Amino acid sequence: MKLLGISGSLRNGSFNTKLVYAAARRLPKGVEFSFVNCADLPLYNKDLDLEVKPQAVQNLLDSILASDCLLIASPEYNYSIPGVLKNALDWVSRPAYKSVLAGKPTAIVSASIGPVGGARMQVHLRDVLSATLTPVVQAPHFLVPQAQEKFDGEGNLVDEDTGRRLERYIQDFIVWAESLSVR
Ligand SMILES: Cc1cc2nc3c(=O)[nH]c(=O)nc-3n(C[C@H](O)[C@H](O)[C@H](O)COP(=O)(O)O)c2cc1C
Repeated sequence: MKLLGISGSLRNGSFNTKLVYAAARRLPKGVEFSFVNCADLPLYNKDLDLEVKPQAVQNLLDSILASDCLLIASPEYNYSIPGVLKNALDWVSRPAYKSVLAGKPTAIVSASIGPVGGARMQVHLRDVLSATLTPVVQAPHFLVPQAQEKFDGEGNLVDEDTGRRLERYIQDFIVWAESLSVR
């Protein structure tokens, strides 16, 4: 199994990027992890969406193609999906219903300095991923509210309860993703 991590935040010190890496450290043995950075993606423009793609877009496409499942961690911006993440998903969503996202098992997690933990973003993201025929694991939303209290200065997830919940969440996700890939 190969899991690709994607963060909806480009910020240095992003709690969501830290959450992706915290999940990666809790994967079952044998699962390979890689991370793709969305910082260099241009804004989506159909005129640029040609057979030869912008390099950063091709890199994202290749990374998703080479993976068996996705872990998306994203903040909530103004109750919804950050433009960075929506833009990335738009780039890899074509051809419609047959893109690299179609059928790719996906988990969604979010961290926020607020009390709601990104829940509203998750609802919107699930809806977006239904447009790309991307199966999202059926599990209670994995939220990290008050994220500034859960990570240390080095980016380690130090809140034990969150760490335990994350381990269970990511391990259950991999079992489900594997069950889809053997069908
Ligand atoms: C433009 C903007 C909008 C935001 N809107 C929300 C919001 O609607 N809900 C929320 O919980 N946090 C909101 N926040 C706070 C983010 O959740 C917080 O900054 C979080 O740490 C960002 O994620 P990151 O640490 O991965 O960069 C917003 C932050 C920014 C910069």
